[in-house]
Amino acid sequence: MTKPLKKAVLPVAGLGTRFLPATKAMPKEMLPVVDKPLIQYAIDEARAAGIEEFCLITGRGKDSLIDYFDVAFELEVTLRERNKKDCLEALAPSSIEAGSLAAVRQQEPLGLGHAIWCARSFIGDDPFAIILPDDLVRADRPCIGQLIEAYNQTGGSVVAVEEVPREHTNRYGVLNPGKDDGKMVEIRGLVEKPKPEDAPSNLSIIGRYVLTADVMKHLSKLEKGAGGEVQLTDAMAKMVGEIPFHGLRYEGRRFDCGNKIGFLEAQIAFALDRPDLADDVRGFLKNYTGAV
Ligand code: UTP
Repeated sequence: MTKPLKKAVLPVAGLGTRFLPATKAMPKEMLPVVDKPLIQYAIDEARAAGIEEFCLITGRGKDSLIDYFDVAFELEVTLRERNKKDCLEALAPSSIEAGSLAAVRQQEPLGLGHAIWCARSFIGDDPFAIILPDDLVRADRPCIGQLIEAYNQTGGSVVAVEEVPREHTNRYGVLNPGKDDGKMVEIRGLVEKPKPEDAPSNLSIIGRYVLTADVMKHLSKLEKGAGGEVQLTDAMAKMVGEIPFHGLRYEGRRFDCGNKIGFLEAQIAFALDRPDLADDVRGFLKNYTGAV
């Protein structure tokens, strides 16, 4: 019997340099795709997978992310007075049950591994999910829920993987794959940002993880890896052989909203999913491309 998975860590302390100047005074995770900030998509996905407790790893200039989850008292009163039911409905998912949202400060952006280590008191001995809000996944079943199912089957850690062009392996944590049934692949080793010629495969980790608390003991050494940062991949690599550890080829499509092209593509894809917008979007795209 695996321990039920109820906790998620959402690291949001990065600098977001690829989105400057937009991110000078606003966190990357507050950028909207259509009309919803990236952080809301992450919370919605986690909730749909049964997660009940959330921990944001924040840093300087990220307070608006915490304010976002406050009750907007005056706004709600005004909307109620004006009988704006649709607006109140749109606001509802941004409220989190009292006591279910924790925020931990990462004073310096020393790397994703360091950010996760900052959540050690929140995690304790429990298994937990990690969602990087800038990786937006469009899927019929929540991506993190697919990983939780795999965790329940294997009793060990599971990360979401996809095949990337070989020339891009230096942007990802990459698997040294073992037994592979086409969906789940056993992890024999992990390398962070390998050069294409050194990469053990092109199976790369995207921003969704389900990990057992064992990872914290490796993270606590705070060893620096690629780019001089404390890398989560390096700590996960040390779990190989200790516990079952798999990559899951998740069902869905990821948009890397940490970079401009991924973000723009997400706007189009998510707008085309919306019955209230799809026709207009198709119409104006035709004007720009002549092809859609
Ligand atoms: P990124 O590699 O996308 O870095 O981090 P970034 O700083 O957000 O963006 P760029 O590269 O400067 O444009 C991946 C995830 O890890 C978090 C980020 O907030 C993002 O969710 N992160 C990264 C931290 O929380 N702390 C860190 O020290 C580094």
